[in-house]
Amino acid sequence: MTKPTKAVIPVAGLGTRFLPATKAMPKEMLPLVDKPVIQYVVEEAVRSGYEDILFVTGRDKYALENHFDSSTALESHLEAKGDLARLRQVQEVSELGNIHYVRQGGARGLGHAVHAAHSFTSDEAFAVLLGDDVTEENSDLLEVMTQVHMRTGANVVALVEVPNEEIHKYGCIKPSGAEVDGVIAISDFVEKPKNSEAPSNYAVIGRYILNPGIHHLLANQAPGAGGEIQLTDALAKAARENEAGGVVGVVFRGERYDAGDKLEFLKATVLLASKRDDLGPDLMAWLKDFIASR
Ligand code: UTP
Repeated sequence: MTKPTKAVIPVAGLGTRFLPATKAMPKEMLPLVDKPVIQYVVEEAVRSGYEDILFVTGRDKYALENHFDSSTALESHLEAKGDLARLRQVQEVSELGNIHYVRQGGARGLGHAVHAAHSFTSDEAFAVLLGDDVTEENSDLLEVMTQVHMRTGANVVALVEVPNEEIHKYGCIKPSGAEVDGVIAISDFVEKPKNSEAPSNYAVIGRYILNPGIHHLLANQAPGAGGEIQLTDALAKAARENEAGGVVGVVFRGERYDAGDKLEFLKATVLLASKRDDLGPDLMAWLKDFIASR
């Protein structure tokens, strides 16, 4: 089975959980320390071997396109000042992968956004990375998922284990067997189940490797929760009826944050800053004093 090389990053959502910050600015452009959320996601795709990247964008997302483009005025200014370190930083962003764009034409759900990529992905398997979901900077999750896809031929979703009292906030899977070496076969999905009715403690997070056959399921998918075309509904059909290659999960046990959620965003900021040589020691010392003084 050939290794997939194309990645789709949907960024057309409205980001309502982060209002009012996202009234005029895409939530994917909110900075975690000094890089926008989306840059961490693109860097993850590129380091995992996905150089061809399609952003599924929407209205008012120009800041995203500008961020990954070169900026002649800024570069000339930094060069004239002799600020070569910052010059390199801004140039590196515009050299990340081969970035393409398609408009979703209205935020009609994640499944609808993924299906907007069908001409780009054509008859190849592809990765999907949610533009507001950040994993730790050296995570090999996407590479492991790619290997599992190549070994099994299945659609692959990323899973985290969450405490039972939190499972109602997530899309949850019904396993069809035990977890073996971090991989688990899936027979169904349940969106935001009651804690007492959840078929497992495995929650779906924003990384996927999908077979091209998923587009056929998405094209025929009726609107689900919130009146939107849900990727989870198409994956549930693939899992239940063993269509488009079926579905397996890869369990991720590293750090991961939904940066579209305010509390998770704050945690991600502290975590990433604490790991930085230039900020970590001072930030941690201040945090200790701050907590002691409360
Ligand atoms: P979310 O559900 O987290 O995004 O989708 P949202 O709808 O923008 O968020 P809230 O709930 O209103 O705050 C996860 C990813 O999928 C994209 C989003 O941009 C985000 O990166 N998305 C979602 C689309 O591209 N199109 C959609 O129709 C929905």
